[in-house]
Amino acid sequence: MKGILTTLNGAAIAATVASWLFSSIFSIARADEGMWLPVLVQERIGDMQEKGFRLDAEDIYSINRASLKDAVVLFGRGCTGELISGEGLLLTNHHCGYSQIQKHSSVEHDYLRDGFWAMSRSEELPNEGLTVSFLDRMEDVTDAVLAGYSEGMGETQRDSIVKANSRILIDKAVSQGKGMEADVEALYYGNQYFLFVYRVFRDIRLVGAPPSSIGKFGGDTDNWMWPRHTGDFSIFRIYAGKDNNPADYSEDNVPYTPKKYFSISLGGVNEGDFTFVYGYPGRTQEYIMSEGVRYISEISDPHKIALRSLRLDIQDRYMSRSQAVRIQYSSKNAGVANSWKKWQGEMRGIRKMGTVEKKQEYEKRFAGWADGTRYAGIVQKLDSLYRLLEPYSYAADYYNETARTVELSRFATAYTGLRNKAILTSSEDRADSIRAEMAGLAETFYKDYYLPIDRESFIAVMDMFDRNVPAGFKPEYFVRSMDKYGSAAVWADSLFGNSVFADSTALAGAIAAASAEGPDTDITVLADDPAAEFGRAFEEWYMEGILPVRRRLSREITLLYRDYMKGQMEFEPEKDFYPDANLTLRVAYGSVQGYSPADGTYYLSSSTLEGIMQKDNPEIFDYDVPERLREIYRTKDYGRWAITGADGKKTVPVCFIATNHTSGGNSGSPVINADGNLIGINFDRVWEGTMSDIVFDPDLCRNIALDIRYVLFIIDKVAGASHLLDEMSFSE
Ligand code: ARG
Ligand code: GLU
Repeated sequence: MKGILTTLNGAAIAATVASWLFSSIFSIARADEGMWLPVLVQERIGDMQEKGFRLDAEDIYSINRASLKDAVVLFGRGCTGELISGEGLLLTNHHCGYSQIQKHSSVEHDYLRDGFWAMSRSEELPNEGLTVSFLDRMEDVTDAVLAGYSEGMGETQRDSIVKANSRILIDKAVSQGKGMEADVEALYYGNQYFLFVYRVFRDIRLVGAPPSSIGKFGGDTDNWMWPRHTGDFSIFRIYAGKDNNPADYSEDNVPYTPKKYFSISLGGVNEGDFTFVYGYPGRTQEYIMSEGVRYISEISDPHKIALRSLRLDIQDRYMSRSQAVRIQYSSKNAGVANSWKKWQGEMRGIRKMGTVEKKQEYEKRFAGWADGTRYAGIVQKLDSLYRLLEPYSYAADYYNETARTVELSRFATAYTGLRNKAILTSSEDRADSIRAEMAGLAETFYKDYYLPIDRESFIAVMDMFDRNVPAGFKPEYFVRSMDKYGSAAVWADSLFGNSVFADSTALAGAIAAASAEGPDTDITVLADDPAAEFGRAFEEWYMEGILPVRRRLSREITLLYRDYMKGQMEFEPEKDFYPDANLTLRVAYGSVQGYSPADGTYYLSSSTLEGIMQKDNPEIFDYDVPERLREIYRTKDYGRWAITGADGKKTVPVCFIATNHTSGGNSGSPVINADGNLIGINFDRVWEGTMSDIVFDPDLCRNIALDIRYVLFIIDKVAGASHLLDEMSFSE
């Protein structure tokens, strides 16, 4: 890592050489591991080209000319998307557009169930609040951010210097154009700082989505697993003002003309092919110490999984009984289920790899090397801080997975907060806009609220809170309520039975009655509501009893990590380090490759329509193939999308896997071939490799992509929206 390494002293060099012999055995990042910063891609381009890439670094990232980076966007706040036409057409995953598709759906227009296709521009659906961000540039600003800081100053002083300097850089960057946003991000725990400047578009319309029986085929049964057959894509269009700049939604806006968009490869994908994923991975922790990993795999993951299992069982039971409830809870359920399943894979992967033990051993060697250097004692200090932190992390995990999942209380808290603001403000305009926000909040909440699910979930998670959170860590309010009611079930009857938030008419009535007596009564009535009280009491407990300690200890840990990180780089100077993911644009490259998940089993690297039909079962919701697709299969009407399958017969490609190092946030990322053309859309990882946010195993970690030819086949043959293909450009 240039710029970070300081000179080693003699003793350290001797220790390095000695430990190198041991450490090199497993510490050298295997080629496919890594999420690299595009601006530094020239450091990797030799390796990429050796592995088959035919373009150069400037084609990937350039500030002087249009490059692939200009066709890759941050979609919303946690997915990636890519431009595929000169008229702002954008591809992402079905699960990334899911909440938008859900919001436009009702029992009459069930776009989740039936799909949605705008047959003309005027039918494209606007999505309030949805944004798409283009990275304008990224810059190493370490020197500017640390200007005025010198070693020996306290951390508080360092913090305020970093903050003030970052502010100046950000303000300058955003003043340079319409819709600009900027962030300064710490990399390597604050050993380096980068400025990221974005241009953010705000008028993003839904163009098309397949039915869930394609876009979410396999559902949560197949989620995080291979072999996979999910047509996980949706299509949006970016609109801009007449000057091609970001603008709020308006009928007068026009499709955005991008600097660059992907050409789509029709050439297909083969085992061994070079692949490159360009996108926004959210969060990884590859360099944390054994204690941090142990907490995740032995404590946090198992408890969170158990809590979510309870809620998922309840949701599934009600959703299977009613289509209306299924629509209401589909998006919420998917979110709960997704991490639930990932944590299971992650926990097993960490255990299987023996990561805790391996890290402990590494830490021993590191400590030996560090002896007598400025890094001496770091590992022990981190270790004891982790032990102090553990009960607080545990309480926080419990808070997040229990009290904070009670929908009624979340709504009551948010609503009451707004109501107070509206009453306290002296500006009539401001009060009006807050009231509009409240109305919107209530409308969204009631549209998707089903009380029996919430009440049963409350009972289940509160029971577990009672059993598993140690006495000294429970909120007093909680202890009092359990004493008073005797059980979570009786408490739930009272809370859900007496809250005016439980029903929109009751809420409106209560507000009207209280307002008649004056605004003070109004606030009291809402604040005294049991659902609001529940939210407030837990929040106070968390904010006063848990968070401050957690913050203080985490801060100390992060600080030590800054040194530990730097120490690791000196300890292993031959290793290529990449910064942990932090939802900034990254390059991950590798190749299309199958894997062996277990002894005696080998998974091929691609799947086809045959697999969809093998799974077809009208009795199983997740595997109910849509009739149109069955018909196409029967008549083999594949048109230009046919390929020859392993058995020599005609079929259609569906998904493939590769060795790219990806994470949550990489959903929707373009999967690119050696010539820079689009071959797929990233959407998942394999179950056996989900520990890659913490530790990457080149034998087991695979990303899962949708073959772009399946996307085109669905648009063309199933949706009958081939007019969209006319906008795209293709290459062999
Ligand atoms: N596992 C993928 C990801 O992390 C896909 C999630 C889609 N959601 C679902 N519950 N099936 O985002
Ligand atoms: N499905 C994930 C997402 O939404 C990407 C898969 C992953 O975590 O690797 O970002």
